[in-house]
Amino acid sequence: MTLEDTGERQLDALYRPLSLFDVAGKTAVITGASGAYGRTIAIALASLGCRLLLASGSQNALSEVARAASAAGGEVELIRARPDSLDDASAIVGAAVAAFGAPDMLVVASGLNVPAMVDDAVLEEWQAVMDANVRGPWLMAKAFSAAVGERGRGKKILFVSSVRGRLGNAAGYSAYCTSKGGVDALTRVLATEWGPRGITVNAIAPTVFRSSLTSWIFADDDRGQAARARNVSRIPLGRLGEPEDLVGASIFLLSPASDFCTGQVFYVDGGYTAG
Ligand SMILES: NC(=O)c1ccc[n+]([C@@H]2O[C@H](COP(=O)([O-])OP(=O)(O)OC[C@H]3O[C@@H](n4cnc5c(N)ncnc54)[C@H](OP(=O)(O)O)[C@@H]3O)[C@@H](O)[C@H]2O)c1
Repeated sequence: MTLEDTGERQLDALYRPLSLFDVAGKTAVITGASGAYGRTIAIALASLGCRLLLASGSQNALSEVARAASAAGGEVELIRARPDSLDDASAIVGAAVAAFGAPDMLVVASGLNVPAMVDDAVLEEWQAVMDANVRGPWLMAKAFSAAVGERGRGKKILFVSSVRGRLGNAAGYSAYCTSKGGVDALTRVLATEWGPRGITVNAIAPTVFRSSLTSWIFADDDRGQAARARNVSRIPLGRLGEPEDLVGASIFLLSPASDFCTGQVFYVDGGYTAG
């Protein structure tokens, strides 16, 4: 960075602070784009003028998200893939490179939970959660790093952790909590490895928000009502989350506003982890 760059940044920060959040024309790769958070951040980034490469395993859901993101103003390409292997991850990032050139941002919004108490849990299901939640982000980060090479400065990686990366949960969450603790550690390790190249790596950590993973907590049956009451009683802001609650923190962590912020797990949890 030159002195001139420093001067420009200072002028932007002092006199055009909203420009720090400008991501127009940047390219984002989003895995799990068919999911509640993936769809939400895809549309939000499209609204800000980003070019998007959307990936997920479900063609129909992916096409619907692509239509919504295009309607919001984004240029959108799709690939039906999950980051199960390095070939898959490279194909996802490669599709972005082919369409738009080296990507600026990676959002890993794919993830899985298969709750089971340890005594009843099946190893293959535990492994599937670890694979989706830890192996997937690791593979995507590796493919993203390879694609940006030495042009890393200002590039952004955003993972989705959870309050469960910090707190246990006696509801069959041994795989999920372990995997999200892994995401937190991976966030810190990659920040240290790639900081010198100017790539920032951060995670958002939500509490329960509405999605297919948590639809049972939002249900009106006895089980849902009990789970909702249990969770809400521990959230100082007094409600569960919605996908849109995650947008502000995500844009911060994907924009130049967070250029001096890396290796952080940012809780978007209504204060759940404060108490
Ligand atoms: N909802 C919550 O309360 C909550 C709280 C904290 C953290 N999170 C995290 O937020 C992220 C997004 O979840 P969400 O709540 O938006 O859930 P979601 O709506 O179920 O979305 C999950 C996405 O992951 C993909 N996926 C499913 N199984 C997969 C697998 N085995 N391997 C790779 N991808 C898979 C799905 O896409 P395809 O099936 O189309 O491939 C889907 O797009 C996840 O990391 C989740 O752990 C959620």
